[in-house]
Amino acid sequence: MKEVNGKQFEIAIDAKTIDKIVSTMAVSISNDLKGTKPIFIIVLNGSFIFASDLIKQISIDCEVAFLKVTSYRGTQSIGEVTKVMELTEKIEGRTIVIIEDIVDGGNTIEYLYNTLKSHNPKDIKIATLFFKPQTYKKNIPIDYAGHNPGNDFIVGYGLDYDGLGRNSMEVYKLKQ
Ligand code: IMP
Ligand code: MG
Repeated sequence: MKEVNGKQFEIAIDAKTIDKIVSTMAVSISNDLKGTKPIFIIVLNGSFIFASDLIKQISIDCEVAFLKVTSYRGTQSIGEVTKVMELTEKIEGRTIVIIEDIVDGGNTIEYLYNTLKSHNPKDIKIATLFFKPQTYKKNIPIDYAGHNPGNDFIVGYGLDYDGLGRNSMEVYKLKQ
């Protein structure tokens, strides 16, 4: 049990399990994208811990770039996405991999996909640690999805509740 911003959360996924999910994804990405020298686009703030653990285990040549968007307030998505930081690298003609912490309704990933597509990359892949396919409303394919947390609102390992709760090795879910 732990309290984040006045709400009670309980453990949902332990550190070892997350580790396994991340390692498996790193192997898949490394195999699939061999020879493409991908640029990993790390979407701040939520995916910084996941991206760090993932990229350490990527075994092919790659680069990283950062982008910051916001869309979420409290435990409900507000739908509208705002870019608050410009992309730090040139992606034209390159294979890019968008690194997200979680894809829920899909507004954020759709916005990111369309924004990045306008910079003419050669290929766009999406890698997210958590994916809620049951609430996903878009058609953009999610190439790498680590785990389905069900309908729970989760925090930890980079994910937040109103800015708090990112700092843990495990993931917690809102207590019903
Ligand atoms: P979407 O635009 O509805 O797909 O929401 C995606 C964004 O909302 C993610 O990048 C997260 O920042 C946030 N989000 C969605 N679900 C959760 C959750 O369960 N916990 C914490 N943040 C979430
Ligand atoms: Mg996010």
